[in-house]
Amino acid sequence: MIKKLLEKNKMRLAPMAGVTNSPFREMCLLNNSGFVTTEEIDATSLVYNRSIRTKEISSFYAREKPIAMQLLGCDIKIMSEASIILQEMGADIIDINMGCPVPKITKKGKGSALMKDIFETSKLVRSMRNVTNIPLTAKIRSGWNEENENAVEFSKMLEDEGVDAITVHPRTRNQRYEGLSKWELIKKIVAEVKIPITGNGDIKSFNDAKAMLDFTRCNSVMIGRAAIGNPWIFNDNYQKLSDKDKLNKIIKDISNHIELMKDFFTPRNIDLQIKKQLAYYSKGFKNSKELRFKIFRSEEKIDNMIEYFFQNLRENFQTIERNLETTKI
Ligand SMILES: Cc1cc2nc3c(=O)[nH]c(=O)nc-3n(C[C@H](O)[C@H](O)[C@H](O)COP(=O)(O)O)c2cc1C
Repeated sequence: MIKKLLEKNKMRLAPMAGVTNSPFREMCLLNNSGFVTTEEIDATSLVYNRSIRTKEISSFYAREKPIAMQLLGCDIKIMSEASIILQEMGADIIDINMGCPVPKITKKGKGSALMKDIFETSKLVRSMRNVTNIPLTAKIRSGWNEENENAVEFSKMLEDEGVDAITVHPRTRNQRYEGLSKWELIKKIVAEVKIPITGNGDIKSFNDAKAMLDFTRCNSVMIGRAAIGNPWIFNDNYQKLSDKDKLNKIIKDISNHIELMKDFFTPRNIDLQIKKQLAYYSKGFKNSKELRFKIFRSEEKIDNMIEYFFQNLRENFQTIERNLETTKI
């Protein structure tokens, strides 16, 4: 089942804490991303105290299904209990986070710290496998540091323990997001295990995605940072539109995204979330720095800020179109 799902649409959104909430995931799905994954959900919070934040990051629209929900943790009992809770909440796939590099997380043995102890992690995976009757996947890095690049051995262990698919972000934990990701390693893992592999790291365009699929022969790819403020990266049809049609689509999609955010977030959180997304969407604008400054600092009502954003968006596109007109003459 999982292989079919991965290959149905080979490009999909990577989980990103603070970014890939339900409204943004929906934007990516509407632009042809393959199935989406929630951001990391802390297993302890899920089991013991469902804070507003945990509730927010673990909720999803029914129309996002099939959905993967990602768990962060290291305690065998808590992770197993959390897996049961996610299944009951309607997860279609449970993904184990084995890649988070943040010191606050790794100090507790979670995220990429799981890659330091293959034996202990195999016990964790076995226990989760035993209580889970939906596909179980894992998202790994190349290893903890350069001296311990154990992703191949680790992937074999995951396969032996019954994990259904693996995502590989081929950077060590020490690299965080620095340097280039080693696509060569994804290729090696594809050759060494039988379960489907998703490649991830440094895809900045539709063509990069194709290049990773061709080079590594992986089953699918995940796109993270390049999708922030650009859900259209998954949409081949969008790339083929004229500038005018692109502008119309962008305006329609961003308006839709704003409505989704107004519906999804708690009243206290709505304005900040909208401002964050507008800032992401202004990434390519000439005046993006001033625009972001104004959006975050202004005391104006959010609807005025939204109007200001759209006005800037239109002006930026007009410049592009004007330039094209000049070239024609
Ligand atoms: C802001 C941010 C938050 C992230 N949060 C998560 C997360 O919750 N779970 C996870 O598995 N990876 C997380 N990642 C890692 C991404 O999923 C991805 O593996 C990484 O960014 C490399 O892919 P890219 O080069 O396409 O961005 C995060 C990355 C960023 C930049």
